[in-house]
Amino acid sequence: MKPRLFHSVAAWRQARAGADFAGRTVGFVPTMGALHAGHRALLERARAENERVVLSVFVNPTQFNDPADLAKYPRTLAEDVALADGLATDVFAPPPEEMYPDRYRYRVTELEASRELEGAHRPGHFDGVLTVVLKLLNLVQPTRAYFGEKDWQQLALVRGMVDALFLPCAIVACPTVREEDGLAMSSRNRRLAPADRARAAAFPRLLRAATPEAAAQALRDAGFAVDYVAERDGVRLGAVHLGGVRLIDNVRL
Ligand code: PAF
Repeated sequence: MKPRLFHSVAAWRQARAGADFAGRTVGFVPTMGALHAGHRALLERARAENERVVLSVFVNPTQFNDPADLAKYPRTLAEDVALADGLATDVFAPPPEEMYPDRYRYRVTELEASRELEGAHRPGHFDGVLTVVLKLLNLVQPTRAYFGEKDWQQLALVRGMVDALFLPCAIVACPTVREEDGLAMSSRNRRLAPADRARAAAFPRLLRAATPEAAAQALRDAGFAVDYVAERDGVRLGAVHLGGVRLIDNVRL
């Protein structure tokens, strides 16, 4: 069945309070759109575990520290809704001014883990992520929310926020979905030129070198500009640039 589409916060809140949701479990998949097979896997899991599935499509301006990156972010709502057909029951796609009536005067800040790795290279990024996730969780009131392990640091920070603020929602981590050649699925992959796309497949393989230092060197030798390679909790994380596109990934050691 085609999902219902909501473009305004008011219409969404009215639907959420209605009979369709009464007494039902709700799975939530928050996204910025440009959906791919990784998002489909989140939606499928949510579909299997809940009576209703809400997909949000919102390119969140506060998590972009680079305005050019925000401008270039693909916006493909019609295709996203088509991909969600039969999986999501509802799609929530609000405009930025409705999500930020306070003009971002109120925000969620985590003071430790959000400052390293991605946070060190993208100042303010996780304030934007945590703030919008909190707003979305308040609006959707899901039983379970689904996040991909590819964004490992984001997943850890969202879990931390849900625990710290006693939010009544389970966070479900889903394994990274990869292309046949090993590259992690990402909305950014479509911005890689064909030659860079072929080279990008080496990223997860080189990340598995004996040490983080060896991995960083192997990546540089293969033509990647390396932001960081680091280990946390038995996971090796990396961020690189290739042909003007920034890629992140992680592998369990
Ligand atoms: O992972 C993403 O797509 C975004 O960071 C999220 C969680 C939807 C918040 O905008």
